[in-house]
Amino acid sequence: PADVGIIALELIFPSQYVEQAELEVYDKVSPGKYTVGLGQARMGFCTDREDINSLCLTVVTRLMKRNNISYSSIGRLEVGTETILDKSKSVKTVLMQLFEESGNTDVEGVDTINACYGGTAALFNSVSWVESSAWDGRFALVVAADIAVYAKGNARPTGGAGAVAMLVGANAPLVLKRGVRATHMRHVYDFYKPDLMSEYPTVDGKLSIQCYLSALDQCYQQFCSKSQKHGEEHFGLKHLDAVLFHVPYCKLVQKSLARLMLNDFVQASEEEQLVQYPGCEAFKNVRLEDTYFDRDIEKMFMTLSKSTFEEKTQPSLLVANQVGNMYTPSLYGGLVSLVISRGAHDLAGKHVALFSYGSGLASSMFSLHVSLDASPGSPLQRLVANLTHIKPQLEIRHKISPEEFESIMEIRECNHHKAPYTPQAPVDILFPGTWYLDSVDALHRRSYKQV
Ligand code: ACO
Repeated sequence: PADVGIIALELIFPSQYVEQAELEVYDKVSPGKYTVGLGQARMGFCTDREDINSLCLTVVTRLMKRNNISYSSIGRLEVGTETILDKSKSVKTVLMQLFEESGNTDVEGVDTINACYGGTAALFNSVSWVESSAWDGRFALVVAADIAVYAKGNARPTGGAGAVAMLVGANAPLVLKRGVRATHMRHVYDFYKPDLMSEYPTVDGKLSIQCYLSALDQCYQQFCSKSQKHGEEHFGLKHLDAVLFHVPYCKLVQKSLARLMLNDFVQASEEEQLVQYPGCEAFKNVRLEDTYFDRDIEKMFMTLSKSTFEEKTQPSLLVANQVGNMYTPSLYGGLVSLVISRGAHDLAGKHVALFSYGSGLASSMFSLHVSLDASPGSPLQRLVANLTHIKPQLEIRHKISPEEFESIMEIRECNHHKAPYTPQAPVDILFPGTWYLDSVDALHRRSYKQV
């Protein structure tokens, strides 16, 4: 099959949020620490009415309905998540209840887990399935979803929650480019979840940032050398129209784009360095691994890359800034943001690079080619048109005070994994069509209803 990639996208986020500026006051940190220092405006969060299963049920229901897809036309469905409710039963099998009416049980795929990377692994698997001898002509459906919550303390403002669903198939408007994918995997304890009774990770914040930046260097260098055409100049930022990242918080992404420029600088000839990177002579012999927390280099390349950031990366940060880190859907929330910020005509023919990072660690850089046809009724125009609800929906969310946010977090913390359990939070605050947890019985069996 030709042009295998993403045909349709859907994104959901919680209907309530806490304002980061109010959280700064409540947490008694200096004003600007979360809003400027981390670059976050609002953080979405879930009450005890939503869990990983309900988020996935909602996003799949929405995608199928909005795009008018029948459940019998799906031949593969897999979920990438790090929000674990059950050590054996996959979220994918929970989603199979949506397929019951159609009679379709012939659906490959289960869950994939590694921190924020599971969604990317699921996407790669699904693309491979369409390209393989096992393909039966039907669509694949990829779901990335998480509830990102941290214990009280400095990591808490980097939480978030949400889900993205992606319809994968042939003749897609967003085509995964072949032969350029670059991967970097290692064993590290930067962020992990060893306590199965808690929703919270064990995090070494500084180490996780260092691991993220070093994985970015590794993936980018490999990606550039695989993209390099024989006899041409170095492949680099100037050959990409947009660069999207996994978004732990927006400020780290701005630093990451600056870091790609530092990578380009290191690869450049001495002559190019002088002409294209004025004022950087002092850095010409730097070793990348010595520079993760080098303030002078960071400042210089943040300044040099400012307009590149504004052009190629900032449009992808809308959802991350408004909802926070959604973990596995974070990168794909970036893709949704890019699509709604740019529109079909502006996107047509563009080359978009994506960097996926999951602690522990697993990371990849890959790219999408956007189809040239943005005419009315084209697949690209349909994909864009089916995302116009996102921006208005961000605006109609309910603002919750930091006090109430904290008490909701406590309810989650006390009741996580409790059985039997009846959730307490009201359901009328949820967006119409949202699936929610109705009850958990004594055998930990969960049942759901729809608003
Ligand atoms: N105004 C403006 N900026 C401020 C202010 C202020 N009043 N106060 C602090 N800042 C800046 C700091 O200078 C710092 O900037 P820098 O990043 O350029 O150094 C930034 O705000 C953050 O402040 P720190 O004191 O470094 O923050 P802290 O150590 O308290 O926590 C951290 C930050 C480590 C990111 C924490 O939130 C965390 O552990 N998060 C979870 C882990 C994470 O997201 N890791 C990233 C990759 S892995 C993943 O995706 C989970």
